[in-house]
Amino acid sequence: MDKLLDGKVVIVTGAGRGIGRAAAYALADAGASLALADLDEDGARETAEHAQHLGVKTIVVKTNVAQEQDVAALVERTVGEFGRLDGAFNNAGVEQRNTPLHELSEAQWNIVIDINLKGVFFCLKHEIAAMLKTGGGAIVNTSSGLGRVAIPGASEYCASKAGVLGLTKSAAIEYGAKNIRVNSILPGVIRTPMIDSLVSQPQFADLLPALEARHPIGRLGQPSEVADVVVWLLSGRSSFVTGGEIAVDGGYLAI
Ligand SMILES: NC(=O)c1ccc[n+]([C@@H]2O[C@H](COP(=O)([O-])OP(=O)(O)OC[C@H]3O[C@@H](n4cnc5c(N)ncnc54)[C@H](O)[C@@H]3O)[C@@H](O)[C@H]2O)c1
Repeated sequence: MDKLLDGKVVIVTGAGRGIGRAAAYALADAGASLALADLDEDGARETAEHAQHLGVKTIVVKTNVAQEQDVAALVERTVGEFGRLDGAFNNAGVEQRNTPLHELSEAQWNIVIDINLKGVFFCLKHEIAAMLKTGGGAIVNTSSGLGRVAIPGASEYCASKAGVLGLTKSAAIEYGAKNIRVNSILPGVIRTPMIDSLVSQPQFADLLPALEARHPIGRLGQPSEVADVVVWLLSGRSSFVTGGEIAVDGGYLAI
C-alpha cells in the first residue's frame, strides 16, 4: 500500500528535538523525503540518522529561522537536492518564562518575536515561492494554546503565537486558489525538553501536577500525538482544510 506522503518533499524546522523530531519520524514513516533544519545541527543530524533508518532520504541544514538568508538557503538547498517542495512544518520556537510584562526588556521581546513569529514569516515567504513553481503544497505552522489564551508572565510568547495564527490565516486566503493549504496547530502542554527544563526548576516543583490537571484528558501530551496531526495536515487526507487552527491539546482550550 502507498504511504500517505510517498514522493513528497517536506521541510521541518526545529527538527533537532521535541515536537519537530517526532514530526520528522512520523513524516519519514509516512514516506516523505525530509529537509531537517535546526540551529542545533547535531540534534538535527541525530534526527536524520533515525529517519534514514525508516528508508527515506534526508538532508540537514543548519538554520536560524530568525535570519532570512538562512531560511532562503534552506529552501534553495531543499529544492536543489530534491527538485521540489511539497510540504513544510514551521515549528522552531523558543519560550521565555515568567517575566511580568512591565519588566520585560526589548531584548527579551525581540528574541521570542524574531524566532517564533518573524521566523514563521520568513519560512512562509520562501516556501510559498518554491511551491508556486511546482503547483502547490501544504504548510503547518506551530502556534500554541497560548496563541488563544494567556498565562501570566508570558506576554511575548503569547503575542508571538497569536501572531502565527494571523499569519497562517493570511497565507491561507492569499494562496488557497493556488493549491497551497496553510494551517496552524495549537499544542497543549507537550512533554518535550522545552517543558522538562521548565518543570525541573525548584521554583516550579508543583507545576507538573497542576499542568496535568489543567488538561481535561488528565495528562500532558506526547510529541508523537502532535506529529500524527502534522502528517494528516500535510497529506491529501486533509485536502479541504486550510486556514484552520487545529488544537492538539487534550481539551486545554475547551475549558
Ligand atoms: N512543548 C510544548 O508544550 C509546546 C506547547 C505549545 C507549543 N509549542 C511550540 O512547539 C514548538 C516546538 O516546541 P518543543 O517543545 O518541541 O521545543 P524544544 O525546545 O524541545 O525544541 C525546539 C527546537 O527548535 C530549535 N530552535 C530554537 N530556536 C531556533 C532558531 N532560531 N532556528 C532554528 N531552530 C531553532 C531548538 O534548537 C530545538 O531543537 C515551538 O514552536 C513551541 O513554541 C510547544
